[in-house]
Amino acid sequence: MRKRIVAGNWKMNTLPGEGVALAREIVGGKGTVCDCVSFIVCPPFTHLSEVAHALKGSGIALGAQNCAAEEQGAYTGEVSAAMLAALGCEYVILGHSERRQYYGETSATLRAKMERAYAHGLTPIYCVGENLAEREAGKHFDVVKRQIEEVVYGLTDEQFAKLVIAYEPVWAIGTGKTATADQAQEIHACIRKVLAAKFGAAADGTAILYGGSCKPGNAAELFAKEDVDGGLIGGAALKAEDFLAIGRNGFGK
Ligand code: PGA
Repeated sequence: MRKRIVAGNWKMNTLPGEGVALAREIVGGKGTVCDCVSFIVCPPFTHLSEVAHALKGSGIALGAQNCAAEEQGAYTGEVSAAMLAALGCEYVILGHSERRQYYGETSATLRAKMERAYAHGLTPIYCVGENLAEREAGKHFDVVKRQIEEVVYGLTDEQFAKLVIAYEPVWAIGTGKTATADQAQEIHACIRKVLAAKFGAAADGTAILYGGSCKPGNAAELFAKEDVDGGLIGGAALKAEDFLAIGRNGFGK
């Protein structure tokens, strides 16, 4: 049985007080969602510590949205994987399309970040996905395959066993335009095949999340697909009730 995950990517939203209030509301409502769902929240760096405190004992895991590719030292403005682990993070989102697009993150950077994350016991949530032009040109399978081969194929079997993947078509992020459940299933199945080509049967156990305008109204249809194991949620993760409803509608009470 694969893990069912609903992860919230808060991006650059909420001030510390607002983040703590949001986390408390999620903790308060968690009982309305099936225990089978693993919830993860990924606030901005600035309030990881306070949110960690608010989540204590709730079973909801903490994640960061990025980490440095370097271990430590003279890297002004960067935050290391060791720092994140020390604050109680269990997960780190890596390779989000906004990081690739706006901050020039390449496969080489992401390989390095991934190593740092694993070295400090963090589980990467590795994001892949094509942009609109690539989708329209029918290149989406190739793009995602390359993003996986260049970064994930370098992992050891032991590292791979923990990895979480998020498929996020760039054209669906924050646009209100969701991939159809069939489109998601088609590419999730392809991702699992690409993973299996390197890691064999272990790929059957990999949680592959869908992200991109996922909301309470479409979670059930998306998560019902065989290879869709949950969601990475942006906008709808900023409202506790919507975030919880995604888990509830997708996986039950
Ligand atoms: P969205 O973002 O749910 O707001 O589309 C998803 C993401 O970027 O992780």
